[in-house]
Amino acid sequence: MERPTKIAPAKGKLGVLTPGMGAVSTTFMAGVELARTGKAVPVGSLTQLGTIRLGKRTEGKTPAINKFVPLANLKDIVFGGWDIFKDDAYQAAVNAGVLSQDHLAASKKFLSKIKPMKAAFDPEFVKLINGPNVKKGKTKYDLALQLKDDIKNFAKANKVDRMVACWCGSTESYIKPNAIHQTPEKFVEAMKKNHAAIAPSMLYAWACVTSGVPYANGSPNLSVDIPAIQKLAVQEGVAIAGKDFKTGQTLMKTVLAPAFKARMLGVEGWFSTNILGNRDGEVLDDPGSFKSKEETKLGALEHILQPDLYPQLYGNMHHKVRIEYYPPRGDNKEGWDNIDIKGWLDYPMQIKIDFLCRDSILAAPIVLDLVLFLDLAQRAGMKGIQEWLSFYFKAPMTAPKLYPEHDLFIQSMKLKNTLRWMKGEELITHLGHEYYD
Ligand SMILES: NC(=O)c1ccc[n+]([C@@H]2O[C@H](COP(=O)([O-])OP(=O)(O)OC[C@H]3O[C@@H](n4cnc5c(N)ncnc54)[C@H](O)[C@@H]3O)[C@@H](O)[C@H]2O)c1
Repeated sequence: MERPTKIAPAKGKLGVLTPGMGAVSTTFMAGVELARTGKAVPVGSLTQLGTIRLGKRTEGKTPAINKFVPLANLKDIVFGGWDIFKDDAYQAAVNAGVLSQDHLAASKKFLSKIKPMKAAFDPEFVKLINGPNVKKGKTKYDLALQLKDDIKNFAKANKVDRMVACWCGSTESYIKPNAIHQTPEKFVEAMKKNHAAIAPSMLYAWACVTSGVPYANGSPNLSVDIPAIQKLAVQEGVAIAGKDFKTGQTLMKTVLAPAFKARMLGVEGWFSTNILGNRDGEVLDDPGSFKSKEETKLGALEHILQPDLYPQLYGNMHHKVRIEYYPPRGDNKEGWDNIDIKGWLDYPMQIKIDFLCRDSILAAPIVLDLVLFLDLAQRAGMKGIQEWLSFYFKAPMTAPKLYPEHDLFIQSMKLKNTLRWMKGEELITHLGHEYYD
């Protein structure tokens, strides 16, 4: 990939579309509104609070990221979305039970105006919920064309300059990519024939990419993670990223596992369990949807610890992940990890983590960063998979045959070096030998 020589300025309005207007999406929308009106701090957002070091450690040059690269201003964002329920964003935020009464009251007027467009939905893929706000069409292709119309109409009605989409819908049942997912042509044929292996999230992905709208996938669904859509993204010059927001337990895994490996400490087993009671938890109670989540949650440790390279340390590791739907907790998930590690001469030790987190509070800043960075990538002419955004995902998408980088600190370095590269700044390798000349 060539270095961008020019990044178009972020002028005009940026439309942000979320398929799915539930807990994550409405917490994100409300948070942006509260931040841009000075009522709250966007904690957790690298684009809003992060800085980037340039040049040598002695130069003292660390601009804010949003001053260093031309990101859209929060004031220029307009929101839209789709959902199978008719609730506007305020009612959906009330139902989600994430935000305090104060925050809900402060964003009520703004959120109430965001009404969901009719969803492309298929109960075969999300079994435990169903809603009335859904599109009708003879084929999946008809539904996808209706989504394209929605995108066009939203742009016109809101006079937006550019758009970005981020899937914040439910986790769909697990499917494996097959022949119809391999090329854009086969994919269109399959949509026309109502093929069973085309999930609604793929229809949104296709509609966005063919409308020139960058797309991030916040769930474990395949969505943009199939060759057909990836090829299309390159053909159409559209930036895409995925998949599954890295928020709580996997964030911790991708911090701790690199530390164990760096110190050559062994891992015998890692047992992770969660209780959560939001709608996401309800959907994940279906074995098909849980299987999708399990796949993205399990991958990280294998890739970080590389048991094939270190069989004595990680060759017999037992890794288990459980999620239990437990309504009393709502969005306030509790995640426990028991880690059996071993040290010098194989002596066993244990580490216990009890993370009392808030799912959507962790996910909302990720949505914000993803839409702003994808919009930046698009203006810089960067197309196809944006691997530098792996930092935000449980199962980062990569070019074929590449293994994904899961280590949070490698991902963070990759992200910041990509920003330096885009701007023609020297990359930081941390070698530092020049300080000792
Ligand atoms: N919160 C986190 O920490 C976190 C982390 C990683 C991934 N995720 C993923 O983010 C997604 C959203 O999570 P959430 O907590 O907001 O869930 P949620 O259940 O509150 O919201 C999802 C919304 O999507 C809607 N929906 C389902 N299928 C749809 C379709 N085909 N078209 C349009 N809308 C549809 C549902 O009606 C629901 O309102 C889930 O897939 C979840 O697995 C969340």
